[in-house]
Amino acid sequence: MYYPDELIEEIRMKNDIVDVISGYVRLQKKGGSYFGLCPFHNEKSPSFSVSPTKQMYYCFGCGAGGNVFTFLREYEHYSFIEAVQELAKRAGVELPNIAYTEEMKQKESRRARLLEANKEAAKYFYYLLRGKDGETGLKYLHGRELSDETIHKFGLGFSSKYSDDLTKYLKGKGFPDDILKEVGLSTIDEKMGIHDKFWNRVMFPIQDLNHRVIGFGGRVLGDAKPKYLNSPETPIFDKSKNLYGMNFARTSRAGNFILCEGYMDVISMHQAGFTQAVASLGTAFTSGQAYLLSKYTKDVILSYDSDEAGTKAALRAIGILKEAGMRGRVLNLEPYKDPDEFIKALGKDAFQKRLDEAENSFFFELKILERGYDLKDPERKTAFHREIARKICTFPEEVERENYIEAVAERYHIGFESLRSMVRTEAGRTGLVSEAVRPKSGIHKKPTREENEKKTQRMLITAIADKPALFKVASKYVSPSDFTVDLYRQVAERLFDDLAQDKWNPAAIVDLFEDEEEQREVASLFHTELLGPEDAADRAKAFKDILIGVKSASLEKSSASLGSDIQAITQAVAAKKALEELKKISIDTFNI
Ligand code: CTP
Ligand code: MN
Repeated sequence: MYYPDELIEEIRMKNDIVDVISGYVRLQKKGGSYFGLCPFHNEKSPSFSVSPTKQMYYCFGCGAGGNVFTFLREYEHYSFIEAVQELAKRAGVELPNIAYTEEMKQKESRRARLLEANKEAAKYFYYLLRGKDGETGLKYLHGRELSDETIHKFGLGFSSKYSDDLTKYLKGKGFPDDILKEVGLSTIDEKMGIHDKFWNRVMFPIQDLNHRVIGFGGRVLGDAKPKYLNSPETPIFDKSKNLYGMNFARTSRAGNFILCEGYMDVISMHQAGFTQAVASLGTAFTSGQAYLLSKYTKDVILSYDSDEAGTKAALRAIGILKEAGMRGRVLNLEPYKDPDEFIKALGKDAFQKRLDEAENSFFFELKILERGYDLKDPERKTAFHREIARKICTFPEEVERENYIEAVAERYHIGFESLRSMVRTEAGRTGLVSEAVRPKSGIHKKPTREENEKKTQRMLITAIADKPALFKVASKYVSPSDFTVDLYRQVAERLFDDLAQDKWNPAAIVDLFEDEEEQREVASLFHTELLGPEDAADRAKAFKDILIGVKSASLEKSSASLGSDIQAITQAVAAKKALEELKKISIDTFNI
């Protein structure tokens, strides 16, 4: 560690994990913990939990977990030091200047180098667009009615028709092959050697919130395929957490965002004055992007193609927005395909009018749903109404449900009372609140002895962490050295040490481990609840068995490797005695 432990501790204490994670994930309280959709994997029902007492998070779905520092490392791809600095800033804690280690410097400077390579590339593309080689590109953009001002604002450029032009240029500027490859500007292949990823395309630099170029999209001039090429994901380019145009849109005063599919759409809209427009990056809309938007406004107007693929994408996006606690509306641009075409054809006033008319996403969903039912057939009509009722059930608030019942009843000519009673029936059938999912157990196979041992040690830590009152009696029989799994022993050493001093700070234990995998494992140890027997006596018995299990495995292991060392033998004898005693004591001892 480069900052003193006490300082790290102070920063952690001043940054409540629930507060910090709430800035990224919408959390809801359930019992003593908070649950939300995991930002580290795609899911529909929440299995991501944050514990305010333990100051840790853990995902039951993908196993991501750790303390507040781990979260920022994983989510923002920060280094440990960056995470500490960010949270110190957040809490107003002043940090002393530190000397960077070589390794830290390297990691930092690598990211900086990747960003620099992109910046140089963007500048070069920009320059080419205005020169002889870029004539066709500039003509193309003008042909699409982009003004020079717009082209400048978005930093559009052109990649030359020679397939190694940029690579040569950047190498000349001192960027080595591996940087160019890692940032996705060059490709290395056996036949052609190193060459450019983008050539003969108009280039759209993709910027983060701070206007730094994190990637590129490149469009062909004509109808060739693929129409767009995009930079791959890199350490500086995370497609699920950035949006095209967001660097400008975040300061728009529109009070909403317009979410669309294309780079050209964003640019057209901005040119027409709709500076709240953003687009995803050639990939589906994600919950990370929703949370990014939700920091500014809850009102998002969707503008997706009206074809089947577009409709599907819109429905998915609506679901994601809803989960993020946002309001989705859907833009109808018929008979035009996308905002770019619409604005070109009908102008900005007509576009503003369509924005004002954008329909509540719930009615959009119903309209799509309706296509699947022949409403002339009474049976199908009833089925459709039942499906509507089921959908209304998903609104968490009573008043919201009532309002929707009213609006839907009117629009679809259903009796208010009959729709209402249908909603009630469906609510009873489906259960209103969705439960947090637990991980499904994997394929059943008989666990090996080693796995069993590991599991018992795990359970012991989990049990003590869950009920620290068990520590006193447990520590009479078991010590950290009884844990044969390295990671568990390290955790136990600290845990036992803390508890012996009446301290209880599991989040600090996470910091003993640098490796994110290990941090996850520690978080999972502390986040598992022993869902064991209901009955207190059975629970006590289970705990006793766990202690016996850990102790005997440890004893067995040490006896097997026993030499003639007197000390070791004495220890083994003592351990054996402890085990015998343990077996005899009443389970009431563990009745907590
Ligand atoms: N896209 C992509 N790769 C493709 C096609 C599309 O990454 N081969 C992404 C791009 O981000 C593009 C978006 O999907 O901006 C929408 O695609 P599309 O509607 O086909 O293109 P437009 O943005 O409308 O571009 P244009 O108007 O130039 O045809
Ligand atoms: Mn288009």
